[in-house]
Amino acid sequence: MFESSDPRMTRIPLNHGVGHMPVLGFGTLIPDAAVTITATRDALEAGFRHFDCAERYGNEREVGRALQAGSAAGEIAREDIFVTTKLWNSNHRPERVEPAFEASLERLGLNYLDLYLIHTPFAFQPGDDQDPRDENGDVLYDHDVTLLDTWKAMENLVDHGECRAIGLSDITLDTLKPLYESARIKPAVVEVESHPYLPETELLGFCKEKGIVFLAFAPLGHGMKPGLMEDPVISAIATRVGKTPAQVLLAWAVQRGTALLTTPKSAARAKENFDISPLPEDALGEINRIQTRQRLNPVVNTGVGGFLPKAAGA
Ligand SMILES: NC(=O)c1ccc[n+]([C@@H]2O[C@H](COP(=O)([O-])OP(=O)(O)OC[C@H]3O[C@@H](n4cnc5c(N)ncnc54)[C@H](OP(=O)(O)O)[C@@H]3O)[C@@H](O)[C@H]2O)c1
Repeated sequence: MFESSDPRMTRIPLNHGVGHMPVLGFGTLIPDAAVTITATRDALEAGFRHFDCAERYGNEREVGRALQAGSAAGEIAREDIFVTTKLWNSNHRPERVEPAFEASLERLGLNYLDLYLIHTPFAFQPGDDQDPRDENGDVLYDHDVTLLDTWKAMENLVDHGECRAIGLSDITLDTLKPLYESARIKPAVVEVESHPYLPETELLGFCKEKGIVFLAFAPLGHGMKPGLMEDPVISAIATRVGKTPAQVLLAWAVQRGTALLTTPKSAARAKENFDISPLPEDALGEINRIQTRQRLNPVVNTGVGGFLPKAAGA
């Protein structure tokens, strides 16, 4: 499946037939605008070529500026960078999809996207309020649009050449299967929470069988403490192989055949998270035998992210 045995160089071909996704992705869910710019620049300098954005993160403009400045300084061509962004829940009505896509493109300062994802399978009340609520504070869902309706509008974007690939995020296998069956253009990528405490083995198996890239977020467990990076199995392997716990977790993700997203916010951590190398087989086996099971992000159940910065009002 992979082009190279060096995880840093590895890119996965997409099933739409156009483009390759670098397995090591930099996530841009960063609440602070200034930190978004410095962290994106540092990630580019460290070697990251895959950038995961979203209209909901509220910082596409800053990411775009950092990518342009960093690419110019490093003489990096647009084709050498893989950029994803995501359609938010309040834009699921088919007539809202292309305008939302165009607005993201404009904010990012790009003329095409490598990948556009439906951020969650939950449709919210259509409109400019990203977090529509009733008087009790409950989310206002939109029951007059199906995921397939939205998907068809996404397919049109591919037809028009505006984005190279489309996919889904925060989706379960039960929701993915019927969409996959009905889709004219099959999803190229599925972005979900995954780490040793949430291996999502069944979903990963389905993705491998269908040639869908499984893109793991929270590979470091969102950095929560205590958490994955303090797990005794991970720490012991890190000591044994002379890597940090973060590097062990990222290597495990790549070696089991997933792409990943991580969000280092300093130059030193960007270098650390990019500088991974394959783990020995016995270490992979030890991690696979970890019994703890924990989902950190409730977004898959409600469409409301535990991932949203407080400043975004969530
Ligand atoms: N589709 C979705 O619904 C969804 C949901 C969540 C996230 N995402 C995407 O996934 C990306 C990744 O986010 P994540 O939270 O899942 O990333 P993560 O890399 O698992 O966790 C980030 C946290 O780990 C810490 N960290 C990063 N590198 C470290 C290292 N080498 N050593 C120790 N701590 C380290 C960071 O700390 P510092 O802040 O101190 O640097 C931060 O607190 C997001 O930016 C976003 O693009 C998508």
